[in-house]
Amino acid sequence: MNLIESIKQNARNNRQRIVLPEGHEERTLKAADIVIQEKIADITILGKKDDVLKKAKDLSLKNLEKAEIIDPQTSSMREEYANLMVELRKSKRLTKDDALKLLDNPLYYSTLMIKNGNADGEVAGADNATGDVLRPAFQFVKTLPGITVVSGAFLMFMRDKEFGDNGLMVFADCAVHPDPTDKELAEIAVATARTTRSIARIEPRIAMLSFSTKGSASHELVDKVIKATEIAKTMDPSLKIDGELQADAAIISSVGLKKAPNSEIAGKANVLIFPNLESGNIAYKLVQRLAHAEAIGPILQGMAAPINDLSRGCSVNDIVELIAITANQAMAKN
Ligand code: ACO
Repeated sequence: MNLIESIKQNARNNRQRIVLPEGHEERTLKAADIVIQEKIADITILGKKDDVLKKAKDLSLKNLEKAEIIDPQTSSMREEYANLMVELRKSKRLTKDDALKLLDNPLYYSTLMIKNGNADGEVAGADNATGDVLRPAFQFVKTLPGITVVSGAFLMFMRDKEFGDNGLMVFADCAVHPDPTDKELAEIAVATARTTRSIARIEPRIAMLSFSTKGSASHELVDKVIKATEIAKTMDPSLKIDGELQADAAIISSVGLKKAPNSEIAGKANVLIFPNLESGNIAYKLVQRLAHAEAIGPILQGMAAPINDLSRGCSVNDIVELIAITANQAMAKN
């Protein structure tokens, strides 16, 4: 069974409740229909029930009657959620009136469902920008204990099976946090190790990437990566991690042996942590296009509950896969 199939099977075995806030969006409804039919997760769709069911009929979708459909503007939970929002945003002086207005927005309502324990995870973004999906999550769901930044990992399925574990590698952060500090970069490494275990299901060997290998260059940007590697080791002493390493030293054994002969990671890395979002986002797109790797993600990590953001160009299949991944993340957290 391939990895995505086994992720779906794992989701079937322990059904999680996934909320889809974009109930007006066609690909989302088609994906929900497949997920319900294949019993991958229990689905809540946000939107006006009549509109959702009419659209389902127009699209000949047979399974959406089995979904829970909630209209955030008329839901009986509004008062309870608004009170919770006021409590959680006391320091920002959020008023109840403003909280009730925010709840009209399904992207806020969904995060309150998660915060209140009424859903296990969320998938959105087929029709909304990354910032609009993430901001409510940052404000109300927040990060895991010990983690202050959310980041985004990609599973990279390389054609050349000699890289990573039989061609599977994990890259991060490629999606969220533009300019991490050394501490934040360490957190990204620790969070990516968890994603690698729970979703890629391989044991992480982490390379902290730079333009220098073991002191070959000196610069404050190199110092940041060296410090981040030290901090990550103190955060999780069991991590197999090394840095600073150049990309070739991280993944090519002959180069690793030459440039970092004492490293247990050099030449064998299956997880690449990039020093900032520019390098991570550019790298994953180049590897995807030039090396024809299959890239699955971004899988958001570090959040207290799994909330994943789709690309607006996503396919129905992308949404189904991300729902299954989100369900697996929710299970790993329980
Ligand atoms: N992790 C956790 N919390 C965060 C993070 C983070 N990475 N970034 C911001 N926050 C929190 C802040 O602390 C703040 O919390 P508070 O309101 O409780 O004080 C709240 O979120 C809002 O913070 P802002 O600084 O106002 O964040 P903003 O909403 O402007 O930006 C965003 C966040 C949208 C994620 C921004 O960092 C961004 O645009 N990142 C790049 C996303 C992107 O374009 N990626 C590339 C495309 S994706 C792809 O190619 C796959």
